[in-house]
Amino acid sequence: MATRRPFFAGNWKMFKTGGQAAEFVRDFAPLVKNSDHCDIVLAPPFTALEAVRTAMEGTNIELAAQNVHWEKEGAETGEVSGSMLVAAGCRYVIIGHSERRHHFGESDEAVHKKVKASLEEGLLPIVCVGETLSERESDETQKILERQFNGGLAGLTPSEFSRIIIAYEPVWAIGTGKTATPETAEEAHALLRGLTRKAQGEPMAERLRILYGGSVKPDSVSGLMAQVDIDGALVGGASLKPDSFAAIVNHR
Ligand code: 13P
Repeated sequence: MATRRPFFAGNWKMFKTGGQAAEFVRDFAPLVKNSDHCDIVLAPPFTALEAVRTAMEGTNIELAAQNVHWEKEGAETGEVSGSMLVAAGCRYVIIGHSERRHHFGESDEAVHKKVKASLEEGLLPIVCVGETLSERESDETQKILERQFNGGLAGLTPSEFSRIIIAYEPVWAIGTGKTATPETAEEAHALLRGLTRKAQGEPMAERLRILYGGSVKPDSVSGLMAQVDIDGALVGGASLKPDSFAAIVNHR
């Protein structure tokens, strides 16, 4: 079985100015400087990318954006393109977060276009999927994950797919303090790995990293990471404080 390198990303959502972001990195970097067992990524708001890029120079921290437009440039007020993110120092980009899907009407088709455009620019997409509470309660989790997986990642070549990371983020667990149990999360992760096996074959399924997101905290991360198909975490609230995000990264 392939060993997948653990991956921990902090999604800061709409929190932190450039100054606050730089201060975070100054405090956080020493806490994870020896954490070479995993990839460590911060996704600040666009306006703090530059501050984080400067502050993280010479550290083992990498940069992600929280969104991207699929065009290279154009009359798209308020949007930012993949080439702009690369120039700003991003290696990764979060695509299709449930807040984008639910608050801003982002469709699977838009997710697909963003994934393709990001790959073309050399960015590594972190593609988010996940069901709402009512979808889970009406037994639609599998159907929703299949639709989001197939809609967002349809027709990628093996070389494209090999650069994807998936984040399973059940909407009912985001910002609610209700972490999915390790078993519930594992079930969804195994399903997503199964979909990958079907679409891309066994070796790709074995190498794909699938992150869990939704109220991950220092005291819940170990149970999640003990599951065979959970390869890391996409962390919101608990990534806003250097101590708690470092405790998640260094949970072993
Ligand atoms: P919380 O960790 O605050 O629940 O947020 C999860 C999330 O949405 C990460 O992208």
